[in-house]
Amino acid sequence: MVRFIDVTKVYENGAEALKGVSFQINDGEFVFLVGPSGSGKSTVTRLMTAEIAPTGGRIMVNGHNLNNIKRSQVPYLRRTLGVVFQDFRLMRNKTAWENLAFVMRVVGSSPHAMRKRIPYVLDLVGLSGREKEFPSQLSGGEQQRLAIARALVNNPEMIIADEPTANVDPSLSVEIMELLAQINDLDTTVLVVTHEKSLVDRLGKRVIAIEDGRILRDEMGGYYHTAPEEETDEDFDRGELGVDEPEDDADEADDFEDGAAAEGVEENGAEDQADEGEADEG
Ligand SMILES: Nc1ncnc2c1ncn2[C@@H]1O[C@H](COP(=O)(O)OP(=O)(O)O)[C@@H](O)[C@H]1O
Ligand SMILES: [Mg+2]
Repeated sequence: MVRFIDVTKVYENGAEALKGVSFQINDGEFVFLVGPSGSGKSTVTRLMTAEIAPTGGRIMVNGHNLNNIKRSQVPYLRRTLGVVFQDFRLMRNKTAWENLAFVMRVVGSSPHAMRKRIPYVLDLVGLSGREKEFPSQLSGGEQQRLAIARALVNNPEMIIADEPTANVDPSLSVEIMELLAQINDLDTTVLVVTHEKSLVDRLGKRVIAIEDGRILRDEMGGYYHTAPEEETDEDFDRGELGVDEPEDDADEADDFEDGAAAEGVEENGAEDQADEGEADEG
């Protein structure tokens, strides 16, 4: 479970990346984090992995209180998280199998455990039979699927994928997103940062939209659930993926609001849960 309470982040250069962000992600959820470039999305993911520390507010991730986490505890936090990067970050001089074995060895897994787990995750991501190949022998989409297998191989509670399709052929983006949804169906919590509006709408999951360091909305069902007065925001350029959208049709926006948005809005507030967050403070 992830919980941000009024989190702020000011970088050393004075950039206010987050200006009071609160949300909760429960175990088993699939959440998209969307927003324009520079809005603070990667700051959220880097806070979750304790790569950076918050300036203010409180952060809990999978039972760890990140406000006062000890350096020695960070590896244990990270074992609960599988991270997928937009540039894959595979080891180029290692085969697919070795890329996965490496991260299992780091957490002390036995060769026996590796022989069981690695074929399972390779099969899950559709790379069975490719274990002897090097990253350079795989396509961009296949490299990202291998990176997803690596994120999964130590059986984390949650996958965090920061723009996982940014360097993947657009025609293969859909299969990456569907793979992440399939992984979620197997009970791993998934957070995906993305600009892929059409895919977000297609999957119909919870969407947290962030802009200028603040949460703009947090609801079920799609990327374009902006209030009518926000529809003209240039940063959410509807035409980007070639979707033919009318520019000035207010009814269109209203229809959208009346549909999935009204039905499926969830309370994602952090206030109403007494849970591990409090327990840890004791
Ligand atoms: N390491 C950093 N040092 C200073 N400013 C940063 C740093 N990382 C991000 N920022 C700034 O914080 C804001 C949010 O950045 P980021 O979280 O990377 O946004 P996003 O991932 O949504 O594009 C931007 O204004 C960015 O320039
Ligand atoms: Mg980013």
